Order: sequence, then C-alpha cells, then structure tokens
Amino acid sequence: MADPSGAEMKAHFYPPGEKELDWLQKGIKKVGFFSKLTPPQLEAMLYYMLMVNYPKGYCICEEDAAGDALYIIYKGSVLITKKGWDKPVATLRESDFFGEMSLLFGQPRSATVTTIEPGILFCLSSDDFKAMLKKHPNMVGPIREVAEARRKELARS
Ligand code: CMP
Repeated sequence: MADPSGAEMKAHFYPPGEKELDWLQKGIKKVGFFSKLTPPQLEAMLYYMLMVNYPKGYCICEEDAAGDALYIIYKGSVLITKKGWDKPVATLRESDFFGEMSLLFGQPRSATVTTIEPGILFCLSSDDFKAMLKKHPNMVGPIREVAEARRKELARS
C-alpha cells in the first residue's frame, strides 16, 4: 500500500480504546448487518478488532489484489470504484463495512476502496475474521447477505 504522495506508508494498527469500544457496542448495533448480531456475537467481534488511521486519498484496498482484512468505518468516508465504470460504485460512511467479499468468496478484491477524507477504521484481519466465523458460524448468514447484494450490484455493469 502506498500513500498519495508516493511515499510508502506503513499503517499503524492499535487496539480500540474505551470510547471506540463503546461506539461499537452502543452505536453500531443499530446499523444494517450489525443489527442482526446478538450481543454475544458483537462481543466476539470486538475481541478481534484493531484500529487504523488513514489520510485522505489513501487506497485501502486495490481491485484484484488479495483480500487481507475487513474494515468498519469509525470516522470518515470511502469511495468504492471499479475499473471500466464511469461512476463510483458507492460511497460508504461511518458504521458501514467493506472488504468482506474477498474474504467470504475467496476471490481478489472486487473493487478499489479509497479514503475521501482522513479516516479512522476498525480492522479485522482475514485470519481473525475466519477464526471468528468458525467460532460463531451463525454470523456468516448476515454478512453473506450484504456481500451477495453487493456482488449483484457489481454484476449489473
Ligand atoms: P472486497 O471485494 O473484499 O474489496 C472491495 C470491497 O468493496 C468489497 O469487498 C465490498 O466490501 C465493497 N463493495 C463492492 N461492491 C460494493 C457495492 N456495490 N456497494 C458497497 N460496497 C461495495
């Protein structure tokens, strides 16, 4: 991963603090896929999360690259773009997540994800994501639902 100035940027991952954990527990469970998780499932997810900060214009995931993590947006917004599309695929904001498709389907990244502004994200590595789903197999359904809908949208091009 390179930053927009061309310099190599090493992402710094750190554990969430109390404020971020509180947000995940209280705020996020009202949103989309997260609303389908039970409190113990949410707990399980928190256990594996790390935080990461990215500057504006930073390419977090590149289309066709191997998927290595899933992200939840804590602060900021990102643009989803795809080669050959004349418009962006989507804009994702606070509480949205991305990066699940390559992990679930075992495929390269389906699209490129770039920060629109400086962002703070929760990050779940591919290994931790798989470990979590193995331990809590009933979490697969809700995540898969979102991933399937996104896949359909990409196929419409
Ligand atoms: P993944 O393929 O791992 O990496 C790129 C990510 O972009 C993908 O997972 C999804 O999380 C996200 N993405 C792809 N298509 C859409 C879409 N139509 N709407 C929102 N997000 C998408």
